[in-house]
Amino acid sequence: MRLVFATKINNVSIDINKVRADFPILSQKIYGKDLIYLDSGATAQKPQCVIDAETEMYTHWNSNIHRGVHFLSNQSTDRYEKSRTIIKDFLNAKSEKEVIFTSGTTASINLVAHSLGDFCIEKGDEIIVTEMEHHSNIVPWQLLCQRKGAVLKVIPVTDCGELNIDAFKSIISERTKIVSVAHVSNTLGTINPINEIAQIVHNYNAYFVVDGAQGVQHGKVDVQAMDCDFYAFSGHKLYAPTGIGVLYGKEEILEQMPPYMGGGDMIKEVSFNGTTFAELPLKFEAGTSNYVGAYALGEAINYVNSVGVDNIEEYEQDLLKYATNKLSTIDGLKIYGTAKNKVCTISFLLDGIHHYDTGMILDKLGIAVRTGHHCTQPLTERFNIDGIVRASFTFYNTKAEVDALYDGLLKVKQMFS
Ligand code: ALA
Repeated sequence: MRLVFATKINNVSIDINKVRADFPILSQKIYGKDLIYLDSGATAQKPQCVIDAETEMYTHWNSNIHRGVHFLSNQSTDRYEKSRTIIKDFLNAKSEKEVIFTSGTTASINLVAHSLGDFCIEKGDEIIVTEMEHHSNIVPWQLLCQRKGAVLKVIPVTDCGELNIDAFKSIISERTKIVSVAHVSNTLGTINPINEIAQIVHNYNAYFVVDGAQGVQHGKVDVQAMDCDFYAFSGHKLYAPTGIGVLYGKEEILEQMPPYMGGGDMIKEVSFNGTTFAELPLKFEAGTSNYVGAYALGEAINYVNSVGVDNIEEYEQDLLKYATNKLSTIDGLKIYGTAKNKVCTISFLLDGIHHYDTGMILDKLGIAVRTGHHCTQPLTERFNIDGIVRASFTFYNTKAEVDALYDGLLKVKQMFS
């Protein structure tokens, strides 16, 4: 894990009662029972400061960004651009020009697949993804391959859910132009060895894209240390609102790429004889951006920083150990994804019990988990299963909630015995 996430620099632990009080939804009851939310991998809950940021924006500052000389437009633009700086610092990007607002990870990856694809992919070129990718890091590349006559290759996953790096080394070649890999598997929780992969990719002068949707919320991300060319993530998994996300890209590469979408805000001059484009990052931000979400994303990152990224990582790793040990004692429970480096995501099946049944019974006990193929059908096929139950924890979850999940699973077993 230390290969990817920066080293912990202090030992201040999380004040869990305070943290939980910051997230109003967590104190709700559902079906008369305490809500136990174990689905943060699908979307994380929002602290009050993020909810307040959206309200503040609409109550006081709502106005389109970069469009007006008037007071409100300046206020709104100011908050949007300050958020970009917060994100730049959070990722340790070199410049704000490298931080592009999008609607989320999927939009970020599609942007790269179109724009970088137009720039560098020709017939017969190869693009590499992995067997553990989310569909959003498979389908955009398949579509690019279809458009250009390129070939998609796949890095296989081992039985414990790690990438087979030796196989990767035998797949990559001079024909490889782009390699796109998840920082963290949404289904298995595996943290991939991003630095090692970056080195291999760059030895072949290929571009390296990292899908950070499940990575950015679990530990320090330093895009310069990772040496990735692109890093995509969604705000809503990082305690921010839905509909806002980020594409980080190295400035020198973004400069060479053509625009993805055309429209307002991404141009310098438009005439029917031709159009010139805005400087980075606006060249990639056509149309009215989700400036309210962008501001709230900045506030979410401020919140995460106030809890402490290192504290979050330490807390979640402790919870992962506790939950893995506890759930492993359940007879007939099989955990899928036992990589050495993992985030606090545990996917499992109970012997002879369908994942939907497990999920539905847990729901009635107030426990929210995700079931199904988790948008990773090639991966579930690889493990010869049609779905799985996933408990995805974060720093607002507790060991008491792990215990409740354990008790719930015993009830599920009892009902099916
Ligand atoms: N990609 C999200 C997940 O893994 C929705 O659940």
